[in-house]
Amino acid sequence: MSASAVLQQVLESGKVQDRQGRSYALHSHIDAAKGAFLQHWIARVQPAAALEIGCAFGISSLYIQEALEGKLAIHTIIDPQQESEWHGVGRYLLESAGCQRLVWMEEGSETALPALLKQEARFDFAFIDGWHTFDHVLLDFFYINRMCKTGAVVVFDDADFPAVRSLLAYLEQYPHWERVDVLEWPLSRQRKLYARTMQRIARLLSACFPREYRDHIFHQHALRPDKPLRDPARMVALRKTGEDERSWDWWAPF
Ligand SMILES: C[S@@+](CC[C@H](N)C(=O)[O-])C[C@H]1O[C@@H](n2cnc3c(N)ncnc32)[C@H](O)[C@@H]1O
Repeated sequence: MSASAVLQQVLESGKVQDRQGRSYALHSHIDAAKGAFLQHWIARVQPAAALEIGCAFGISSLYIQEALEGKLAIHTIIDPQQESEWHGVGRYLLESAGCQRLVWMEEGSETALPALLKQEARFDFAFIDGWHTFDHVLLDFFYINRMCKTGAVVVFDDADFPAVRSLLAYLEQYPHWERVDVLEWPLSRQRKLYARTMQRIARLLSACFPREYRDHIFHQHALRPDKPLRDPARMVALRKTGEDERSWDWWAPF
């Protein structure tokens, strides 16, 4: 069976099976729109080495494998709970789909990523969908930044979670990364109008304060027209545009 056939079967049934034939209801996976977003960027980047953090029942991994089909790319998958929490289903489904060139790391990304850096691993595509706290995703990105080539693309899932969203606001200040794509929640016209109006009011109000107070009182998002007040992003893709040449004390407000 191919990755496409396994994916179709699982998504249609809404169920997965482990090696022993025990059945589980599918949950916690990315949907078709997110799968298409991942596949679009894999097709654009044509990675030689892809990294994935957070496999669960293997749905995102199957989308990645479907896009990598026929290529010689190595796909490294990090998930500490693949056996304990997910009953080895992700691994089993990828095996059933005949996927090769997989590197499994069944440990937290907090230990797997430094080990990969030590081995001088390099990636040109990464998908972050593991532990979603601000510090953990920052830690993931810290190592990914070190291991990514220029031109590499990193996709963040759940970019609308407050922790991920705040982190992205910081990462987008990096001079050597740029936001290249967003998968948005569909917003109604009223919601868009409301967000734009609130932003205008915030900008007008902020003009009444001296600069040194303004930055403390108003969040950057409220003042920048390119940063909507309520970011409807579900997934965000960042691209590395050059080497990390920030000085040791680099800082940018976010
Ligand atoms: C939302 S699920 C991933 C869903 C999967 N990407 C999909 O779409 O099918 C989050 C995953 O993060 C994993 N995880 C938990 N702690 C982690 C850690 N410390 N490092 C990396 N991944 C972790 C969980 O085991 C789980 O598989």
